[in-house]
Parts: sequence; C-alpha cells; structure tokens
Amino acid sequence: MKIVVAGGTGLIGSKLVARLREQGHEATAAAPNTGVNTITGDGLADALAGASVVVDVSNSPSFEDAAVLEFFETSTRNLLTAEAAAGVVHHVALSVVGTDRLQQSGYFRAKAAQEELIAKSPIPYSLVHATQFFEFVRSISDAATVDGTVRLAPVLFQPIAGDDVAQAVGRVALGSPVNGMVEIAGPEQFRLDEFIRDALAFRNDPRDVVADPAARYFGAELGEQTLVPDAGATLGETRFADWPGRTGG
Ligand SMILES: NC(=O)c1ccc[n+]([C@@H]2O[C@H](COP(=O)([O-])OP(=O)(O)OC[C@H]3O[C@@H](n4cnc5c(N)ncnc54)[C@H](OP(=O)(O)O)[C@@H]3O)[C@@H](O)[C@H]2O)c1
Repeated sequence: MKIVVAGGTGLIGSKLVARLREQGHEATAAAPNTGVNTITGDGLADALAGASVVVDVSNSPSFEDAAVLEFFETSTRNLLTAEAAAGVVHHVALSVVGTDRLQQSGYFRAKAAQEELIAKSPIPYSLVHATQFFEFVRSISDAATVDGTVRLAPVLFQPIAGDDVAQAVGRVALGSPVNGMVEIAGPEQFRLDEFIRDALAFRNDPRDVVADPAARYFGAELGEQTLVPDAGATLGETRFADWPGRTGG
C-alpha cells in the first residue's frame, strides 16, 4: 500500500515513514526537503499518484497567530484537493488532545480549523489527538519562560514519547477510517509544573519552574483536565524515566 506522509521529514513523520517501510509499505515523505510543498502545491500531484492513504504530520514553520492559521488552512485544503484527484481513500491527521478546550490560543485555533476542513471533506478520515510529546519539553519551557523563570499551571499532564506517537499513528493509518477522533497519551499522569521541573533537571537546565495557576499555555488558560485525554485513550508504553532522550541529548 502506498502511504504519503506530509511532514514525513519531521520529528513524528520521519519515525512514521521508517516504521511503515519496515512493515513493507511504500511510504513516501512529502515535505519541502523532498520537493513537495503543501502550501505552493509543488510536487504534490506527483507525490500522491497511486497513494491510498495520506498521513498529515506537517507543522507550521511559524506559530504566530495569522501565519499558523494560514499554514494549516492552505496546506489542508491543498492536500484534500490533491487527494480527491488522486483517489486517496483515507486522510489521517495528527492533532492535539484538548484542541477544542485551548481556543484562546492561535495555534490551537489553527489546529481546529485544520480539523474542520478534514471533517467537512468527502474523503474518509481519522484524526489522532496526541498529548504533548516528551520531545516537546524544551518548547514548552521556552514558551513559558518570563524573566528567566518558567511559569506553568499545576494541572494534569500526560505526555507521550514520539516513538509511541508514530506507532499509534501508523496503526490508525493502516486501519479503516474512523471518521472521527481517537486519543493517544503517555502511560503516566503528572502535574505540568512538576514534570517540567524534573525534565529540566535531567538535562541540567538551570531554570526555576514556578507553579502559577494563572500561567497560560501558548496563550490559553488551563484547567485541571485541559491537557489530558478522556478515559479510553490508547496509552503509549514508554515511561519518561525510561526514555533515552530525557537528558536532552
Ligand atoms: N509537539 C507536540 O507535543 C504535539 C502534540 C500533539 C500533536 N502535535 C502535532 O504533531 C504534528 C507534527 O509535529 P512534529 O513536532 O513532528 O513536527 P516537526 O518536527 O516540526 O515537522 C514538521 C514537518 O512539516 C513539514 N513542513 C513544513 N512546511 C511544509 C510545507 N509547506 N509542505 C509540506 N511539509 C511541510 C516539515 O518539512 P521540512 O523538514 O522540509 O521543513 C517537517 O517535515 C503537528 O501537526 C502538531 O500539531 C504536536
């Protein structure tokens, strides 16, 4: 089966392409680095020729409100149009647990717009909502740093290893479209501030982490359950304490 992975050179995409190839599938990475651009359309029709499934794990180069919205809307429209022309029968996209609860954030408004375009399109689809990746510790910390101190709300947090995300997305891509959303998360719950404090210590990052219930997460206020999935989410196996990347490389 030919599977095209939009964003197939990124963190999750590269793991997913490798995994699908190991399983004997024809997996193609579609990204600017491989000559395929979902914004300009360059290389898209050729990349999709003969494909049955498209998995979109691309991400916007800019997280600025207008830029990220423009990225996900244009990219998703172009992909869905090209997929219809190529006869693709399953569109899979990776999004974030709690996207609907994070709408004060421009990034999450863009993810919601992406999801809406997919749900309205005639192409059968599956949305995979993942919690934050272990690999995202640095980005979360940097976004939450004010005057050298990391300020985070002490809310529930259930991060997942990127390898486990790729495994789960691969399974969904090889299955039947759910025409809805499935959730994936890590095996353990933490408090966001405590997790980031420990994770920064593992990597010898000297920043202090302060619990601040009013601290926003990429612009959005957080409640106790905002970032965690409902019961019934698929859980990855990797515990943070056993994750080889925890020292930050
Ligand atoms: N970070 C988290 O904790 C988290 C949690 C849940 C869900 N997610 C979602 O997971 C997805 C993937 O995240 P990631 O961290 O794996 O992304 P990433 O490592 O930043 O990779 C982004 C990918 O998008 C590609 N891309 C950028 N512009 C493109 C364009 N115009 N056309 C085609 N491809 C383009 C990049 O290609 P180049 O390499 O050529 O630039 C790269 O392959 C995102 O949609 C994100 O919302 C993230």
